[in-house]
Amino acid sequence: MQAFSDGLRTAGKTIAFVPTMGFLHEGHLSLMRLGRQKADALVVSIFVNPTQFGPGEDFASYPRNLERDLALIATVGADAVFTPEAAQVYPNGFETCVSLEHLPHHLCGLSRPVHFRGVATVVTKLFHLVKPHLAVFGEKDWQQLQVIRRLVRDLNMDITIVGGPIVREPDGLAMSSRNSYLNADQRPAALSLYRSLIRAVQMVGSGQTRAADIVAAATALIGAHEVNRIDYIAVCDPQTLEPMEEITAPALMALAVKVGATRLIDNIMLEPAAP
Ligand code: PAJ
Repeated sequence: MQAFSDGLRTAGKTIAFVPTMGFLHEGHLSLMRLGRQKADALVVSIFVNPTQFGPGEDFASYPRNLERDLALIATVGADAVFTPEAAQVYPNGFETCVSLEHLPHHLCGLSRPVHFRGVATVVTKLFHLVKPHLAVFGEKDWQQLQVIRRLVRDLNMDITIVGGPIVREPDGLAMSSRNSYLNADQRPAALSLYRSLIRAVQMVGSGQTRAADIVAAATALIGAHEVNRIDYIAVCDPQTLEPMEEITAPALMALAVKVGATRLIDNIMLEPAAP
């Protein structure tokens, strides 16, 4: 992989990189198109990274279909698809990790304590392997995007981080590889995540500023479905992820809900109404 990227760089080409865990959908493909537009060459990785899954999470059952993924990537056109094995990424004796001090102690990091260390470590390794000029990450995983932006700044990595908007199903459900776990009964319950975010935008648009009221309305909407178990519903500063009580500046509303056994996340920006 490094030799391939060195070849592109020597030829004066810029490289865009889209890291994924596969089982691709339109959300991933939109990031690849963005990367294509912004650089001469596109590299996509598919690697289900074991270190970002906690004990009892879905690493073993995470959906995989390399053949289908390669066919989807071909519709966008990548210069390389990097699909390393876990034993190559983490050979015997591996002992270095990258972890952040503050950003992981919010939102998803609270119920997934090893997750962002695994993400920061694997993304650092992938950056060194792929040597991109820019890398594209989805706003669907807003906290991950902030972690990567911080990581790149803190460690002086010469890589531009580009965020891509959330791609949704026609009914509004944020696309996710994990949506494949949902059965027909769980699908309406899953849609309540997006509905609650839209309700929040409406509430803020009509002048409501108390985060607690917004969260209470979302809790009621999502909680009305018996299969839903709320992990968190938060209104926070979009960069630091610190909780916000009054929405007097643009705020991020983020949530994580277990729909049956499937953990889904979503988020939206809340813009206070003009006075
Ligand atoms: P994965 O969940 O496969 O997601 C790969 C990229 O696609 C991430 O940047 C994610 O934010 C983006 N993405 C997923 N669903 C999206 C949607 N509906 N709209 C827009 N973008 C979407 O995120 C990971 O993999 C891993 O943590 C990884 C960064 C590859 C490190 O292992």
